[in-house]
Amino acid sequence: MGVPALTVLLVSYFLNSSTGTRQSCSPKVSFLRPYHHLVNMPPNLKVSADNTVISLLPNEHDNRGEARFHCAILGCGMMGQEHISYIKGYSRDIRIDFLADPFAPSLEESQKVMEEFRRKEGGDDHQPTILQSEEELLQHVNDIDLLVIASPNFMHTDTLVRWGKHDLTILVEKPIAVSQEQMDQLNELRQDPEFKARVWVAMEYRFIPAIAKLLSLVPSTIGELKMITIRENRYPFLHKIGTWNRDPKKTGDTLVEKCCHFFDLFRLITGQEVHLPRVRALAQRGLNYHGEAPLPGVERPIIDSAYVVMPFMGDGSEPPSVTTTTETIGCLELCMYAEGSRHQEEIIVTGTKGRLEAYLPENKVFAFERPSMELWEDRSIPPPPSSVKQTVYDCFNVKDVHGISNEELPTHAGYHYSSTAVEWYRLLQAMKQHAKTGIFVPDVSLDDGMRAVEVGLQASAAIVNEQGKRS
Ligand SMILES: NC(=O)c1ccc[n+]([C@@H]2O[C@H](COP(=O)([O-])OP(=O)(O)OC[C@H]3O[C@@H](n4cnc5c(N)ncnc54)[C@H](O)[C@@H]3O)[C@@H](O)[C@H]2O)c1
Repeated sequence: MGVPALTVLLVSYFLNSSTGTRQSCSPKVSFLRPYHHLVNMPPNLKVSADNTVISLLPNEHDNRGEARFHCAILGCGMMGQEHISYIKGYSRDIRIDFLADPFAPSLEESQKVMEEFRRKEGGDDHQPTILQSEEELLQHVNDIDLLVIASPNFMHTDTLVRWGKHDLTILVEKPIAVSQEQMDQLNELRQDPEFKARVWVAMEYRFIPAIAKLLSLVPSTIGELKMITIRENRYPFLHKIGTWNRDPKKTGDTLVEKCCHFFDLFRLITGQEVHLPRVRALAQRGLNYHGEAPLPGVERPIIDSAYVVMPFMGDGSEPPSVTTTTETIGCLELCMYAEGSRHQEEIIVTGTKGRLEAYLPENKVFAFERPSMELWEDRSIPPPPSSVKQTVYDCFNVKDVHGISNEELPTHAGYHYSSTAVEWYRLLQAMKQHAKTGIFVPDVSLDDGMRAVEVGLQASAAIVNEQGKRS
C-alpha cells in the first residue's frame, strides 16, 4: 500500500475513533478507541490543517527490508517469560538479543523458556546477551528496536523517562505509574520535545477473545450504553520475586496494580472517560497473606477486595451534570479471596435495547435483546421467555474472533487466554507499519495507560470506609 493510501486509511481511523464508532457484528474485531484519541495522539504524530496524519520522526528503518526487529527484555520474571514464550512464535519477525535482570534465577529460567519455545515454535538458536542491570542495557540502546519493560510496577516510570528520548519502540507492562508523582513525571516526559520513543502499554485484557467479541458488539446490539459492571472474583496475588507486590507503594495498591486493566476496559467499552471527582469506593484489607512475615516499611496491607462506582462523562461535548440520572454508570467488583468462583471475570453491559454478558474462563458472550411491545404485550406478567432474543457467541477460537489466520498466530497454554499472542501480533504489525511509513499507531497508547492509572489512583483516594486512615 502506498503512503497516500495509507494516510487516508489512518485519517479515517482517527476520525472514526473520534466519534467512538465501532464495527458491528463482524467476526473480526476492531480496536477503535474513545473519542479523545484525536486530540491525544501519540506524541510522534500530528494532524495537519488538511487532516493528514504526519509523522514527526525520521524514518530510519525504511531500508531494513526483511530484517528482524532486535528486542531486549528488562525484567525476566513471570511476565517477562510469558512475553519471551510468545516472541519465540514470531521468530521470523523478531529476535531476542538481550535479557536484563539483577536476579540470576530469572535470567536462567528465561533462557530455558527461550529454548523450550524454540523447540516448539522453530526458529534459530541465537543466544541473547545476558546483563544484570538496566544501566548496562542502556549502553546498547542503539542496537535495540524494541524494549520490553517487565520489571516491578514502581520501576516503569523511571525506565520510561530514561529510554523515552531514544528512537525505539517500548512495550511497557501495566501499570505505567504507581503514584501521582510518577504521573507528573510522565506528563513532563510527554511534553518534552526530545521524547521520541513509541510506547505501547501492555494491557492485553483488551484482546481476551470474549472481551474482544463483546467490544465488537457494542453498541449495535444494545442501543445506548447505560450501565457497565466488571467483576473479578479470583485467587490472591501470587508470590513475586522480592515480595514487591505486597507493598502498596511499590504496586500503586490493588486498584492501580490489578484494576488498571478494568479501568482501561471501562473506557474502551463505553467510549467515555470516567468523571473522576464523582468516583466512590469501599475496600477491605488484611484478609489475605496472614502467614507472611511483616515487610519492613510497609504500614498497611494491600487491598484484597473493593467496590468502585463511577459515572462517565458522555461524549465530552457538554460538561458532565451532577443532577443527571441517565448518564452511563459503572461498577467494579473485585474480590481476591474467591478461589473456585464459577466465573473469574464477568463483564455486563446494558443498553436501552439490550444487554451483553461476557464470562471468563467460559469465554462466551451472551447477547439479549429486550422484547418489543408486540412480543411482551401483557405487562402485568413478566416477559415470556420466548420474547427475549438470546444469541450466544462461543469465543474459544482466538484466531476466529480476531480474524487472524492460523499460521500467523502462535498460541499455547499460557496465561491470559492467548491474549498476549494477539498483543504481540498487533504490536509487530504496528512496528512493521512504522518501519515502512514512519507512522506508529499503538492499540494501547501512553495516554491510555495513564488514564487507566488515573482512575485507579482516584478510586484509591475515594475509598469512603477508610477516610482519615491513609498512610
Ligand atoms: N499484563 C498483565 O496481565 C500482567 C500480568 C502479570 C504481571 N504483569 C506486570 O508485569 C510486571 C512484572 O511482573 P511479574 O509478575 O513478572 O513479577 P516477577 O516478580 O515475577 O518479575 C519481576 C522481575 O523483575 C526483576 N527486577 C527487579 N528489579 C529490576 C530492575 N531494576 N531491573 C530489571 N529487572 C528487575 C526481578 O528480579 C524479577 O525477575 C509487573 O509490572 C506486573 O504488574 C502484567
